[in-house]
Amino acid sequence: MSNLILVTGASGHFGQLVLQHLTETLSVPASRIVAASRNPAKLANWAAKGVATRVLDFEQPETFASAFADIERALLVSTDALDRPGRRLEQHTNAIRGLEAAGVAHVVYTSAPNPEGAPLLLAPDHEGTEQALAASGVASWTVLRNHWYFENLFLFLPPAIASGKWYAADGGKGSADIARSDLALAAATVLAGTETGKKTYTLSGPNSLTKAEIAAAVGAAIGKPIEVVQIPLEALVQGIVQAGLPEPVARIFASFDTNTEAGRVAEVTDDFQRITGRQPQSFEDWLQANTAAFSAP
Ligand SMILES: NC(=O)c1ccc[n+]([C@@H]2O[C@H](COP(=O)([O-])OP(=O)(O)OC[C@H]3O[C@@H](n4cnc5c(N)ncnc54)[C@H](OP(=O)(O)O)[C@@H]3O)[C@@H](O)[C@H]2O)c1
Repeated sequence: MSNLILVTGASGHFGQLVLQHLTETLSVPASRIVAASRNPAKLANWAAKGVATRVLDFEQPETFASAFADIERALLVSTDALDRPGRRLEQHTNAIRGLEAAGVAHVVYTSAPNPEGAPLLLAPDHEGTEQALAASGVASWTVLRNHWYFENLFLFLPPAIASGKWYAADGGKGSADIARSDLALAAATVLAGTETGKKTYTLSGPNSLTKAEIAAAVGAAIGKPIEVVQIPLEALVQGIVQAGLPEPVARIFASFDTNTEAGRVAEVTDDFQRITGRQPQSFEDWLQANTAAFSAP
């Protein structure tokens, strides 16, 4: 049997970090790794290092036979297709059928915390994908319920830093976010390892922090105060629309706050340590390494 590892979504931020951890942190030989993308030209730097690159589009089942051929362990990275409700779930379900048909021995999926019945508008994609995996003929799998990336702050904080006000509708509840690189390390460790069976892990950072705590830390680091202002959910949606996003997307973003208020993302777990044997990076350390990205020009 081959011992090839497949990384889907390999051109994305997460997939790139998984490839880095496989090759550098875990010293997996490039010859054991296959990286897939809808456009493998984006993976030329990995091809130059000896990683095989393949075409894979979850919406083009004709790409599956060659993309999944001889793969032993595969990482199914959830896609970024949020334009139409249910589209991601269709993509992931297609991919699971393809992985099953190809006889891939172990599948790892990047899910989200507490997806069952969550008010987060993205949660049904993850809940449905987990169900599809459980119902499939894939004999062995790992679901990694990834908490939110610290790196999401690169998207949400700049307007708050500019205006000095971070609008929220989360009731001041906390979220146990984690560095994206740590999540990638956990995925790479499962891929490079020999774990079999059917397991679900929830990967959180070391603490649950409120937006007020994050704002205070970032404000102190950049020398500019950021005030968290709690507003009604509908006002948050309209504010995001005024910032230029279509209303359905604004509702998805705002539902992160509803989900936080419902206490769905506050749980701190030790699953990261169980998988990797390491402690996840703290927010303070992450901020210290990334303060320049938030500093005013
Ligand atoms: N936990 C969090 O805080 C958080 C934050 C943001 C996103 N996410 C989720 O985690 C995923 C990975 O994060 P990221 O930061 O790496 O996102 P990203 O940089 O936007 O990458 C998304 C990846 O999805 C792949 N993709 C899109 N459509 C596809 C299709 N039809 N078939 C196969 N692959 C497809 C893309 O691959 P190609 O373009 O190369 O085909 C790309 O590599 C995201 O897609 C999203 O589901 C989680």
